This record gives sequence, structure tokens and C-alpha cells, in this order.
Amino acid sequence: MTDHAIFREIGLSMPTKNVPAVTRERLLRSARKVMKNAYAPFSNFRVGAAILTSKGQVFAGCNVENASYGLTNCAERTAIFSAVAKAGPELEIVAVAIVNDHGDPCAPCGACRQVIYEFGPRAVIFYQGEKGPKHNLIAELLPEGFRLP
Ligand code: THU
Repeated sequence: MTDHAIFREIGLSMPTKNVPAVTRERLLRSARKVMKNAYAPFSNFRVGAAILTSKGQVFAGCNVENASYGLTNCAERTAIFSAVAKAGPELEIVAVAIVNDHGDPCAPCGACRQVIYEFGPRAVIFYQGEKGPKHNLIAELLPEGFRLP
């Protein structure tokens, strides 16, 4: 199936922010569910993320903290690394939803933006903003993302 057909099948036109509410809600539901599995004894800030691939698969991940704080893995990266472990590296991320258990404004961190960009340079990201839900293309959150030449 071509990228175009897949986008059409899941209700997306080409990389745009016009993701149907049903797709967005499905991702947000997965993110909220996996958030309950977070290991966050240090920050007490639980995060859940869900990614939608161009094949229509959904993968979810939560943050996993560590007593050596810098080793913490964010929810977004857990979701993406789980997807690769399960489905292999031929994966295009179409959309990502991110939630936290405080309902606080929480866009993906810089490291996660770069990891999202690696597998989804055209992805749309749903997250909590100051004034309610927000969505942006990854290219807006991470202009000039890094790629090996
Ligand atoms: N965190 C995420 O899971 N995703 C982000 O994009 C930002 C931060 C986690 C890391 C840490 O466990 C907690 O949130 C507080 O920083």
C-alpha cells in the first residue's frame, strides 16, 4: 500500500494537522492507559505516549525513571523503541499523542523530538498546552532536525 493510500485509509490526508477526532481519541486513550504503568518515583510525574504508524498500528510507552536521574527514559522514546522492538525498523510514525497525570502543559522534550523525527519527519504531535489540547507537526517543534548526510 502506498503512503497516500494508508493516510487515506486511516482518515488522514497527507502530512497535515487535520487528523480526525476518532484517530486522535484512539491514540489519547492508549496514552492514558499506558501512563498508569509509568515508573516515576522521583518526579511523581507520569507520562504516557502512543504512536500511530503508517500501517495503522499503535504502540504505547510510559516514562521509566532511574535513581541515577539521567538514565530516565521518556514515554515517547519508550513507545518508539517498543515499536521498533516489536515491528522492526521499517516504521513511519504518522501521529503521536502525549499525556501526563497532572494535566500540565507538556510538549515532548528535545531528545524525544529528535527521536520522533528519525521515524516520523511528517508526524503530527498531540499534547497538552496551556489552553487545552494542542497539535503541531514535528517539523514545527523541531525545525532542521538532524539527519546523517
Ligand atoms: N518526560 C517524558 O516522559 N516525556 C517528555 O517529553 C518530558 C518528560 C518524563 C521524564 C521524567 O520521568 C518526568 O517526565 C519528569 O521530567
